[in-house]
Amino acid sequence: MEAPTARRRGALPAVEPLSAQVSFRPLTREDFARLRDWLNEPHVAKWWGVGTGPDGLGGAGDDAATLPAVEAAYGPALDGTDPTANYVIVVDGAPIGLIQSYAAAIRERDGAGIDLLIGEPSMVGRGLGPTVIDRFVTDVVFAGSDVSRCVTGPDPENTRSVRAFERAGFRWVRDAVVPDEGREHVMVRERAA
Ligand SMILES: CC(C)(COP(=O)(O)OP(=O)(O)OC[C@H]1O[C@@H](n2cnc3c(N)ncnc32)[C@H](O)[C@@H]1OP(=O)(O)O)[C@@H](O)C(=O)NCCC(=O)NCCS
Repeated sequence: MEAPTARRRGALPAVEPLSAQVSFRPLTREDFARLRDWLNEPHVAKWWGVGTGPDGLGGAGDDAATLPAVEAAYGPALDGTDPTANYVIVVDGAPIGLIQSYAAAIRERDGAGIDLLIGEPSMVGRGLGPTVIDRFVTDVVFAGSDVSRCVTGPDPENTRSVRAFERAGFRWVRDAVVPDEGREHVMVRERAA
């Protein structure tokens, strides 16, 4: 089946190279204050915040993420007790967001799940997302491993995210309902042969 969005919009051109230098480095505890601030940005909290489900973190007022809450959510991955791999997205030397990969089952076969947030408000809506996603999948997820499929599941109403993943080579495979979290627009990218 074809993605409804792809059907509506037609074929997409390949991701265009940016002049910006995009790289990734492992998240450390020194990043936690910055990560807390990103999680509390309204454009991030809408899709990552407490209103999105039991694992949601960040928002306004009483919902705002705190340093202890960030430690509780991300500390175990740094200590190796949670297998999620968290990276800081670095553009032209500046940290701008978080991207993560984790083990995921895709149609009963193994793959890597990914999720991201561009936390700096001045850096969203400028076309960075597709390049960041494409670079991460190529350079980190598929590099030097036997992972051959990558999956993500943005909220179908997060059209900016769905579009960014489409531009990075992901294709819709199904819509799903995740208990307590709501609907997911499940998208997959296969490793090139
Ligand atoms: C989702 C995200 C990674 C996308 O990266 P980005 O660099 O902002 O995306 P782009 O600027 O490339 O925009 C992607 C598409 O959305 C469109 N878009 C931009 N701003 C938009 C907005 N406010 N509403 C709807 N669409 C928008 C763009 O025109 C582009 O579409 P096009 O390819 O047809 O031109 C980034 O916005 C983000 O981190 N947002 C906050 C957290 C989040 O939503 N994470 C994803 C959870 S799955």
